[in-house]
Amino acid sequence: MTQKHTAIFDPGNSSESVELPVLSGTMGPDVVDIRTLHAKSGMFTYDPGYLSTASSSSKITFIDGAKGILLYRGYPIEQLAMHCDFMDVCYLLIHGELPNNAEKITFDHAIKEHSMLHEQLVRFFSGFRRDAHPMAVMVGVVGALSAFYHEAMDISDAVHREQSAFRLIAKLPTITAMAYKYNIGQPFIYPRNDLSYAENFLHMMFSIPTEEYKLNPVIVKALERILILHADHEQNASTSTVRLAGSSGANPFACISAGIACLWGPAHGGANEACLNMLEEIGDVSRINEYIKRAKDKDDNYRLMGFGHRVYKNFDPRSKLMRETCHEVLNELGLHNDRLFKLALELERIALEDEYFIEKKLYPNVDYYSGIVQRALGIPTIMFTAIFAMARTAGWVAQWSEMISDPEYRIGRPRQRYIGEEMRDVPSEFFRK
Ligand code: ACO
Repeated sequence: MTQKHTAIFDPGNSSESVELPVLSGTMGPDVVDIRTLHAKSGMFTYDPGYLSTASSSSKITFIDGAKGILLYRGYPIEQLAMHCDFMDVCYLLIHGELPNNAEKITFDHAIKEHSMLHEQLVRFFSGFRRDAHPMAVMVGVVGALSAFYHEAMDISDAVHREQSAFRLIAKLPTITAMAYKYNIGQPFIYPRNDLSYAENFLHMMFSIPTEEYKLNPVIVKALERILILHADHEQNASTSTVRLAGSSGANPFACISAGIACLWGPAHGGANEACLNMLEEIGDVSRINEYIKRAKDKDDNYRLMGFGHRVYKNFDPRSKLMRETCHEVLNELGLHNDRLFKLALELERIALEDEYFIEKKLYPNVDYYSGIVQRALGIPTIMFTAIFAMARTAGWVAQWSEMISDPEYRIGRPRQRYIGEEMRDVPSEFFRK
C-alpha cells in the first residue's frame, strides 16, 4: 500500500484543519488513513454499517461492485468456476497461487487426512435437541473443535495456523453432513478418501448404511460451483466477524464459529433459506404481484429475499454463474415444470422488469439461485446456509491467517457516538447503604 497524497480534514469549527495520508491499493478506491485523526483533532469518524470504511489491507479478494468484478487472488471468479475445482480455490485463497500438480496432490491428501472427527466430538452431537437447526449445531460443534487441538493452537506459529486451516476445511463437510443426519434421525456416515470434496459431502449427506448414494456428475458439478462461488467475498459481515473475533488472539475454531453465527442471519447467508421459505409462502404464480407490491411499499418493511446486495449495484458475477448452473440443473433433472421452480423463474422475470427494482438496482443475488439449485439437488432448505458456511470456511481461514501475519494488525476496537444521558448523580432514594 503506497501513500499517494494527503487529504485535508476541516472540522469546520474553530479547530485547525488536519492533514491525513491517502493510501492507494493495487486496484479499487484510495483510502484516507484516519488512524491519527482522533489524536490530531479529538474527533472520531461515524460510519454505522461501515459504508465508507476499509477495515484492513488484504491481498485475497477484490470486488468492483459497479463493474460486477470479483477476483480471488487476482483471478476472475468466472475463470475459476469454469476451469478449477474447489480444492484449487482453497489452495489459492490460503497460499496466494494456484497449486501445481505436486502441490495439488499434497494439499488434497492433507485435507483428506483431517476429514474425520474425533469420536468424542461425534458424541457431542447427542447433546442437542433432536430437531435442532443445523446452523445451531454447527456453531456449537465448530466452536467445540477448540477443545480438541490444544497442541496446535499457537496462533503466532505459521505451521499451527496452517494445520488449523486444514482441519477446518477438512472437517466442515463432515460436521455439516452430521448436523443434517442428526436432524433427520439417520446414522452418521463417515468420510471416504477415494471421493472428491464435493462427492464426499454428497456421500455423507445422502448415503445410508443400507444403500450407497449414487453420485450424479451434474449434481457434483453444481455443488462444486456453489462451493467455489461462495468461498470468499472480501470483508463481508461474517468475514469481518471472524477477523474481529480473531483480533483478540482467540483461537481459529472459536473465530470460525463466530463467523458461522453471523452468516446465519437472513440479511447475509440465511438469505437462501429465507428465499425458499418466501417462495413457499407465495405459493403460486398468481400471488407474485401481491408480494412485489408489499416489497415496494415504503410502510411495509417486507423485502424480497434473495434480491439486492450491499456491494453489487450492477450485477453480481456469481449470480450470473449460479443462474447458468440453475438452468442447467433444472433442465438436466427435468424440473422446469416443478411448481416452486416455475414460481422462482417467474418472480425473477417480473422483478427484473419492474421499475422499482431496476431503479434501486436490485437484482437476484447469488443466494436466490443457489437456494433454487440446492433444492433441485435434493438438499433440504434447512441445510442451505450450512452449506454456505462450509464453502466460506476456506475464505474465513485465509482471511484470519492473513490478519494474524499482518504487521499492522491490532485488536479491533471501534468507538461510538454516545447519545445517552449526560453525567448525573444517583438519586438519594436509591441509596442502599
Ligand atoms: N426487496 C425490496 N426492497 C429492497 C430490497 C429487497 N430485497 N433490498 C433493498 N431494498 C430497497 C430498500 O428498501 C432501500 O429502499 P429506500 O432507498 O427507498 O430506503 C433500497 O433498496 C436500498 O436498500 P438498503 O437496505 O439501503 O441496501 P443495503 O446495501 O443496506 O442492503 C441487503 C443490502 C441487506 C442485501 C438488502 O438488499 C436485503 O435485505 N436483501 C434481502 C436479503 C438478501 O437477499 N440478503 C443476501 C445478500 S447476499 C449474501 O449475503 C451472500
